[in-house]
Amino acid sequence: MTNDADAPTSTPGPPPGSRGGWSPEQVGDQSGRVVLVTGANSGLGLETSAVLAAAGARVIMTARSREKGQAALADVQGRAPGAQVELQMLDLASLASVTDLATRLTATLGSHGLDLLVNNAGVMAVPKGRTQDGFEMQLGTNFLGHFALTGRLLGPLLQSESAGRRPRVVSLSSMAHRFGRITPQDLMREKRYEAWSAYGQSKLADLMFALELDRRTERAGRELVSVAAHPGISATNLFTGGPFGRMPDVVRRAAGKVGELVMQSPEQGAWSVLRAATAPDVVGGEYYGPAGAGERSGPPVRVGTSARAQDVDMARWLWEEAVRLTGVGFHELDPPAGAA
Ligand SMILES: NC(=O)c1ccc[n+]([C@@H]2O[C@H](COP(=O)([O-])OP(=O)(O)OC[C@H]3O[C@@H](n4cnc5c(N)ncnc54)[C@H](OP(=O)(O)O)[C@@H]3O)[C@@H](O)[C@H]2O)c1
Repeated sequence: MTNDADAPTSTPGPPPGSRGGWSPEQVGDQSGRVVLVTGANSGLGLETSAVLAAAGARVIMTARSREKGQAALADVQGRAPGAQVELQMLDLASLASVTDLATRLTATLGSHGLDLLVNNAGVMAVPKGRTQDGFEMQLGTNFLGHFALTGRLLGPLLQSESAGRRPRVVSLSSMAHRFGRITPQDLMREKRYEAWSAYGQSKLADLMFALELDRRTERAGRELVSVAAHPGISATNLFTGGPFGRMPDVVRRAAGKVGELVMQSPEQGAWSVLRAATAPDVVGGEYYGPAGAGERSGPPVRVGTSARAQDVDMARWLWEEAVRLTGVGFHELDPPAGAA
């Protein structure tokens, strides 16, 4: 494990051989695929759901607000008439809600299983707060909630594998992972809370989770593909819950106008997620983001990670800590008893 003091700070750019030139027109026929998208009522989750539904997938949209969820469901049904799309309630800031959804789905998905899980929901730079289980709000929602959800849905995901398909888990990270630090000595930021630093930690944790899940599935000889994606900077509601949302109205309106000029649309922000979720050539452990300057906008390509995100000792520690905190193991991926 690497301490903050000696953590590597170099940030590799896009790996050689990054593949470019992709747009959602390349999303193939998704018929027969069952997909779950968290945070599907807004921004990237809504756009991802709409494209996948229009391409023929059965899409389970999740939301924490029934009202917002129903409006988003109607939106997707309007854009993709006749699509198989439904709404399920999920609050990632509550382990009980995660367990409840996973239990219901495991019963209803049956022998088909789950083909794609998009760990998308998130909050950014919100004021100090706690989830229902007492976790720091950003780490708890963005990382621990999705960790628990993925672990609880591992059965249906592996069921898809047993049925001859290659299930995928796509986890949303961010350029903010680059300034993120995992702080084992104060993971819940009880000693000192700074909203952006806590966001950076949560997005680094999401990326490390995606990479660690890939390593574990590979060791277990499983077909499940775990990858990560980020949308560059996209004009979504993410900006209204953090410091921008707390600005005076007039400043916020002006900032919004500037934002529209420099940010890409939620539709285009979802492209990285869609490529990671659907392209046939995606390989476990990859990370997709926009190709443009500073990865802020543009068509999705394979991108690099910070050196910190590649710290396998820290990733192992974080995984074990998440198991301890959430009480969710990934036992199907455990090495066989007696294996070294
Ligand atoms: N937009 C960007 O520039 C950007 C950049 C980098 C990474 N990302 C990542 O992209 C993902 C999607 O964000 P977005 O930009 O699409 O923002 P968004 O429009 O605000 O969408 C976030 C979604 O997450 C949901 N959510 C928040 N807390 C939740 C909880 N406790 N339980 C369940 N759902 C919850 C929100 O529900 P409510 O509507 O009820 O709040 C909403 O549906 C996030 O993981 C974010 O970190 C975004």
